[in-house]
Amino acid sequence: MSDLLVDLGQNPYIKQAIKQLGLPLPMPEKLRRPRGAWEERPLDGRTVVVFACGQLTLPLAATLAQAGAFAKVVGTSLQAAPFVAPGEAFGRRIVQIEADAEPPADLRADALVFDASSLSMPRELRGLYDAFHPYIGALNRGGRVLVIGRPASASRTAAEAATSAALDGFVRSLAKEVGRKGATAHTVFVEPGAGERLPPLVRFLLSDRSSFLTGQPWTVDARVESTLDVKFVRPLEGKTALVTGAARGIGASIAQALAAEGAKVVCLDRPGDEAPLAQVAQAIGGAAIALDITERDASVKLIDYLDTKCGPLDILIHNAGITRDKTLGRMSASYWDQALAVNLDAVVDLTEALLAHGLSNNARIVCLSSVSGLAGNVGQSNYSASKAGVVGYVKALSQTIAQRGMTINAIAPGFIETRLTAAMPAVTREVARRLSALGQGGLPKDIAELVTFLSSPGASGLTGQCQRACGGMFIGA
Ligand code: NAI
Repeated sequence: MSDLLVDLGQNPYIKQAIKQLGLPLPMPEKLRRPRGAWEERPLDGRTVVVFACGQLTLPLAATLAQAGAFAKVVGTSLQAAPFVAPGEAFGRRIVQIEADAEPPADLRADALVFDASSLSMPRELRGLYDAFHPYIGALNRGGRVLVIGRPASASRTAAEAATSAALDGFVRSLAKEVGRKGATAHTVFVEPGAGERLPPLVRFLLSDRSSFLTGQPWTVDARVESTLDVKFVRPLEGKTALVTGAARGIGASIAQALAAEGAKVVCLDRPGDEAPLAQVAQAIGGAAIALDITERDASVKLIDYLDTKCGPLDILIHNAGITRDKTLGRMSASYWDQALAVNLDAVVDLTEALLAHGLSNNARIVCLSSVSGLAGNVGQSNYSASKAGVVGYVKALSQTIAQRGMTINAIAPGFIETRLTAAMPAVTREVARRLSALGQGGLPKDIAELVTFLSSPGASGLTGQCQRACGGMFIGA
């Protein structure tokens, strides 16, 4: 990644000017990203400090030990007790620290996890301060903060709802504070009865696979039946996936990531892009189909192809997208139509057709939205409308397809290093990279990691959501 500000920041005058503009100076370190495919112990040898005062201690204790982490439990011996057996089973002896004791002077933590699921009154939020205040300084570079609570929608009283909502505000601020050291923070709201769906998400958020995601609330619910045989290695073995817009950029990266976890991937892109498309497909042992998804009979052609070549899809990734930027007064009707046709109409039309014929039960659908769709952007009224439409579609459709064991989610990337962002003016590009908690742009691989997680059988607790993958971008956050 070219880092203009890193170079300019060496000059003391320019450094001063950058500070006055309010642009964060670059981090000394790049984000820690995973090298290979999913592994059994993504947290092997990592230290996780757990403030274990809630109702979700059991799934948390098992998850950490199974993922290879060493838990240091802050609380009474009774609160630490659920961690002992799983720790021993995986050779991860736990350490208990009394809540009112000073943190050990040599403590370095790879993650801080707070189980807030028992908090019901605003004054109990003081527990967040008491836990994090002494320990936040011990968080390593590239560390993780996780606060787990109950969603406001499950609250019995307005005061309890206020307490839940406060967790989100706390974590969003913390994400901005720890972002400078490449660390991230998330809130996970677990609906009552959905605790068993929590472990895969905890593994993902504490691992290097989520390094560009931060400041996000996630909700785990029990609407979609969970699969019992959740595999952490090659989770997509035996699955067939379709990725639209797979010839390059984020789509190519998604196709590679899904294939690396065992999926057979059908790569789709426009006629005219056959050469790069075939290259991507060949490299991953996948198949290629050249099809313009805005063609009137695109869904008929696609279903014919699936019927003859590979059968129904288990994973459908709507990644193809275009921008046609102009301020509204200067925008031609064709610019409007093109952006809406690719980014929204085709997503809806293809999904509806495939739901009727071409998607397996328990399928996973992921749609690429954009931060522009959530926050709006000058010159992008068409693009933002289409990408906001995707979020609405995902939310509504999740209700109707849940009974078939299917999930559908959206991802709103922020600044990702692709040809789309390479085409931006240099200064705008640098500002866009820097104005985020992590102070840098993401890579296509970061989006691919989230898509892969949401496509996995273990992600059954997540549906109807839109996750920003933006490094904690300040715009519209
Ligand atoms: P890209 O332009 O590099 O790739 C998009 C692909 O979609 C291209 O290969 C293109 O040929 C294909 N495509 C476009 N129209 C098509 C059609 N009618 N039929 C079939 N294929 C078609 O874009 P990039 O950056 O990889 O973006 C991927 C997705 O992520 C898009 O939906 C985009 O809106 C979204 N996104 C990207 C961001 C970024 O920073 N790069 C930020 C926010 C969202």
